[in-house]
Amino acid sequence: MTLVNEPIPQPATPAPAGPLLDVRDLHVEFRMRDGVAHAVNGVSYSVRAGETLAVLGESGSGKSVTAQAIMGILDSPPGYVTGGQVLFQGRDLLTLGREERRKVRGAHMAMIFQDALSALNPVVSVGAQLGEMYEVHRGMSRRSARKKAVELMERVRIPAARTRVGDYPHQFSGGMRQRIMIAMAMALEPDLIIADEPTTALDVTVQAQVMELLAELQHELNMGLILITHDLGVVADVADTIAVMYAGRIVETAPVHEIYRAPAHPYTRGLLDSIPRVDQKGQELYAIKGLPPNLMHIPSGCPFHPRCPRARDICRKDHPPLYDVAPGRASACHFWEETLNDE
Ligand SMILES: Nc1ncnc2c1ncn2[C@@H]1O[C@H](COP(=O)(O)OP(=O)(O)OP(=O)(O)O)[C@@H](O)[C@H]1O
Ligand code: SF4
Ligand SMILES: [Mg+2]
Repeated sequence: MTLVNEPIPQPATPAPAGPLLDVRDLHVEFRMRDGVAHAVNGVSYSVRAGETLAVLGESGSGKSVTAQAIMGILDSPPGYVTGGQVLFQGRDLLTLGREERRKVRGAHMAMIFQDALSALNPVVSVGAQLGEMYEVHRGMSRRSARKKAVELMERVRIPAARTRVGDYPHQFSGGMRQRIMIAMAMALEPDLIIADEPTTALDVTVQAQVMELLAELQHELNMGLILITHDLGVVADVADTIAVMYAGRIVETAPVHEIYRAPAHPYTRGLLDSIPRVDQKGQELYAIKGLPPNLMHIPSGCPFHPRCPRARDICRKDHPPLYDVAPGRASACHFWEETLNDE
């Protein structure tokens, strides 16, 4: 009797698929002439296929630097990843060589930036730029690649794509250019897209259209999406989960609707209270007092304490860990319970 050909026993139900991206305890610093800026200080978040994670926080909180470290496009020097893991489909990208990372970046993850005009090449037609993706990564002929470029432009609903394929980036409006950048990012049907303030430079109606398009394509291709934004208003309709960053840390993470209903961190509450509301027209808008900290000298204890209306002695001394608030919810505030129950 031989056991060699016996089937391997399979579990009755397959284990749930792990996250597409799992960032663990990521640290990034910038070594500058006048000191070290601690830009990312232990960020952990994960994204599943088909899921949208919105990353929020004021300017300088480390949203983009985290994304650059994930993509492997950190400005280095002066930026260095000094700790953590970036597990993508189970593989730690931080252990890969330059060439392997480039391959992952090309085919499996893509990034959409705020400023399409500087992200696109100004002296190459959009058709040639889109086509190049297929020529380089898929080995297509120039003619077939150009055909694919037109299809892509149609897919992101650029009017008269066939006649505009030879136009240059500056010949398109801001909204159309952003669609072209979305097309570039989608070309190879990546598993993950990171969109860093994709609509900030656009006017409000165009913003909504571009967001809608992005959400639609993400859904169609079952991609994971990390949406970096200042704008809590944009997030409500498209995100599943929110991670709020402050001074290079996640201070609160929660399913999107729960965070709107009852934030568990005073900083999130401050951000929510600063959203203009139609029913409060004419009233003065709330603003969180003070400024984000200098990342070379992050305050002791809770980094938010100099600005926090709830701060007490312990906040100046003890750094709050991420407390579990509920399944899928966490807050880095010693007084999360009070905050949550606030009216
Ligand atoms: N290229 C760089 N050189 C030096 N320091 C940098 C560089 N890029 C980022 N930093 C530092 O990292 C901090 C966080 O920057 P990051 O771009 O991640 O902020 P952000 O949250 O994306 O802000 P914004 O909303 O303005 O885009 C900056 O305040 C700065 O101190
Ligand atoms: S730990 Fe203290 S300072 Fe920090 S957010 Fe909570 S109450 Fe405010
Ligand atoms: Mg940024």
